[in-house]
Amino acid sequence: MNSMTTSTINLSKKISDPSAVLCIEGVGKKFGTIRVLEDVDFSLRSGEVVAIIGPSGSGKSTLLRCINQLEPPTEGIIRVGDVVIDATKTPSKQDLARLQKKLGMVFQSFNLFPHLTVLENVSLAQRKVLGRSKREADDRSMQLLTRVGLAAKAGIYPSRCSGGQQQRIAISRALALDPEIMLFDEPTSALDPEVGLEVLAVMRELADSGMTMIVVTHEMRFAEQVSDRVVVMAEGRIIEQGPSKEVMRNPQNERVQRFLTAVRDR
Ligand SMILES: Nc1ncnc2c1ncn2[C@@H]1O[C@H](COP(=O)(O)OP(=O)(O)O)[C@@H](O)[C@H]1O
Ligand SMILES: [Mg+2]
Repeated sequence: MNSMTTSTINLSKKISDPSAVLCIEGVGKKFGTIRVLEDVDFSLRSGEVVAIIGPSGSGKSTLLRCINQLEPPTEGIIRVGDVVIDATKTPSKQDLARLQKKLGMVFQSFNLFPHLTVLENVSLAQRKVLGRSKREADDRSMQLLTRVGLAAKAGIYPSRCSGGQQQRIAISRALALDPEIMLFDEPTSALDPEVGLEVLAVMRELADSGMTMIVVTHEMRFAEQVSDRVVVMAEGRIIEQGPSKEVMRNPQNERVQRFLTAVRDR
């Protein structure tokens, strides 16, 4: 028996659905008395790419941060693989580590270490978190830097790289830990549109290769063309979700229609 079935938490049918690699049910988040997420239900199948869109302040980043427990939710249950976290109980360190090992995260700001070379940036966590030898870690890093077109930059410092290159390095760093799911929080919004395209190309390649991904984004073309499903948030809730083309071309919710019109007219 795995820890899911032995868990003392009573799991509903929905959250124990074995076809979902990630499942969240009734997730809420309050900062003090301010409610930021309310009753969010969501699940993700292996290989699925989901785009989360919605106005600024609607809780998209908080939702990603709740999923990986950077920000512990105040209500609800999150299951990633066989790890179940119930917001009403303090998770064990072990469960937190197992959960975080399954999730790779890429932020809007790349958060690379300025005093380490590109190669060292990608290798460091592999050695610390996975216990890989320097040789193993560097080999894997070079493989990934090659994949994102940056093998030639391995020996230089991040400050000598463009924003788009730095974000591709950050993506390599996350992939190097062999996550089951990649979470992206507006990975291109700090970049010039042209430079953003090279990052989007890497993400598209990753999606095509079968990676399971949740991407918070303002890139409406990416949402429509690359993701399988679009989730729209407003005021801390999911207000619409469905197959990408349906949601993007023919949204049912009036609030979503207004949002998409506003974004497209910008
Ligand atoms: N640490 C925090 N403390 C208090 N309020 C926060 C905190 N983080 C986010 N918020 C608030 O939560 C709401 C949702 O924020 P966020 O998840 O960043 O939205 P989005 O990513 O959709 O723009 C916003 O009103 C924001 O001000
Ligand atoms: Mg955000």
